Amino acid sequence: MCGIVGILGTAPVAERLIEALKRLEYRGYDSAGLATLEGDRLERRRVGGRLKDLERRLRDAPLFGYTGIGHTRWATHGKPTEANAHPHATDHVAVAHNGIIENFGELRGELEQQGARFTSETDTEVVAHLVGSCLAKGYSPQDAVRVSLSKLRGTAALALVFKGHNNLMIGAAKGAPLAIGAGAGEMYLGSDAVALAPFTDNITYLEDGDWAVLTREKTVIYDAKGTVVYRNAIKSVASFRVDKSNYRHFMAKEVHEQPEAVGRTLAPCVDTAAACVILPKMPFDFSDVSHISIIGCGSSSYAGYIAKYWLERLARMPVEIDVASEFRYRQPPLRKGDVAIFVSQSGETADTLAALRYAKSQGLHTVSIVNVPTSTIARESETALHTLAGPEISVASTKSFGCQLMILAVLAIGAGKARRKLSESDETALVHELLQIPRLIAAALAVEPRIEELAREIVHSRNVLYLGRGASYPVALEGALKLKEIAYIPAEAYAAGELKHGPIALIDESVPVVIIAPYDRNFEKTISNMHEVAARAGKIILITDAKGAAEANLKSLATIVMPEMDGAFTPMVYDVPLQLLAYHVAVVKGTDLDRPRNLAKSVTVE
Ligand code: AGP
Repeated sequence: MCGIVGILGTAPVAERLIEALKRLEYRGYDSAGLATLEGDRLERRRVGGRLKDLERRLRDAPLFGYTGIGHTRWATHGKPTEANAHPHATDHVAVAHNGIIENFGELRGELEQQGARFTSETDTEVVAHLVGSCLAKGYSPQDAVRVSLSKLRGTAALALVFKGHNNLMIGAAKGAPLAIGAGAGEMYLGSDAVALAPFTDNITYLEDGDWAVLTREKTVIYDAKGTVVYRNAIKSVASFRVDKSNYRHFMAKEVHEQPEAVGRTLAPCVDTAAACVILPKMPFDFSDVSHISIIGCGSSSYAGYIAKYWLERLARMPVEIDVASEFRYRQPPLRKGDVAIFVSQSGETADTLAALRYAKSQGLHTVSIVNVPTSTIARESETALHTLAGPEISVASTKSFGCQLMILAVLAIGAGKARRKLSESDETALVHELLQIPRLIAAALAVEPRIEELAREIVHSRNVLYLGRGASYPVALEGALKLKEIAYIPAEAYAAGELKHGPIALIDESVPVVIIAPYDRNFEKTISNMHEVAARAGKIILITDAKGAAEANLKSLATIVMPEMDGAFTPMVYDVPLQLLAYHVAVVKGTDLDRPRNLAKSVTVE
């Protein structure tokens, strides 16, 4: 969601700004723009559309400045048009922004009364006019930014350049992340280190409330109170090649990378010789914890939901699961010393970050499960556990979800052991199960040709139902989310036992019903629900194993057979055919499935 880059360069910067913005495309955007300083002029090129449209505009009207900022915008206030694209500017300052200025209406009114003329519908333009009005009063750029920041409410990562100041760029991180990069005689700003990887690996993350004054020679960082502060630079390992290998889409590549990614994530968490889990030292003992809250958004919250079943069963631990946007505003009563786990691929999701801050303010121990180790959520949590999925570019979470589940499974075993609910032999058996998961995921991927056929059979469905019991229920939720987000087919998931409390009314011969039913202790009950669907002529797509397929003994549109496995961790394997189903339906429909409409990879605003 919104990407920011800035370069104080030693050569024209437009081409490199585009290169950096391309590395932020994965966040999702619908318009883009650049501004550079050219002698005593401030020049902008903006488009409603993609970076390739911006490149076309630049071929017709190049930018030559050595100092510049760039932006990919995910529309919040106003349509994705050229007029609303960033950078926004007055005669003297240009600004790129990620976040939402909550008091922009009030500020806009005041600025208009003072004579400012707005040309966009965005909240961001008030920043340009606020800073511009301070400059007009004779403030230095630094003072103009300092005063303006104090008037903004909401979230704002900002990059600003100033006409007539070719050796100056100012960045700010108020509730949204911003990284500073240092290169040979150059300085950079970026929403993350990934954007800056082609130029430097010397990265300093601003802390919340910080703002920084950059010249080609040095950077001075101020905290929210205006005190000069020192922030550690790190050597970033964010460099990666953004390519699809031989796959048609990033999503296909990422789905197929799962056996390796999940195995890589598991490796540091188990001692294979001793068959036990290894967890980093945490500042609490699970045996002293009375309650765990697991918080996330979207797929990450469903990973947490699956873990609730595991923690309750293996550790006999009471677990509450919540979506971050509810948790943060509901402000539930929490017990000091208990634990809250935050699950996030990006580590930047605004609601999850706010929920983390709330839990910290209540004295909880905070554990994050993140895929981006330098992310704000990783940095702000007490313990960060890293999924090693590698960069996930497609908006739909796939391999990161599998890796989140793997870490959560290890945590559940660790908690069970600490609380003496699991014996040594239980642990050994569970670790052996986990070690089989990469192989089982690879076996599950082998059903792809059948799923491809099935996708063609259901592509025109008006809606699709997903049913599951136990830990297969959140798997159903995740499967339905995937189908909605990339294939744009309304899909709903229910705990199978809920079927007759309402959703059964939806079923007729046109409705595919995906039933997730591993041959476990819930199998018989789920199959009874399947009979209820069959009795109403619903099109059954049964996902089960060989034993389940043999016992179900009912006509289905398709029976997708998963490899045999022991009970506890089936979600990591049974999610795979659901990812493939959503993917192939989207391929048949021809959607822009790696960048589905209206969605952003990293949701950094509320
Ligand atoms: C899943 O396919 C979605 N892209 C979305 O639900 C995602 O899981 C959610 O936005 C949370 O993101 P995070 O894991 O980066 O916090």
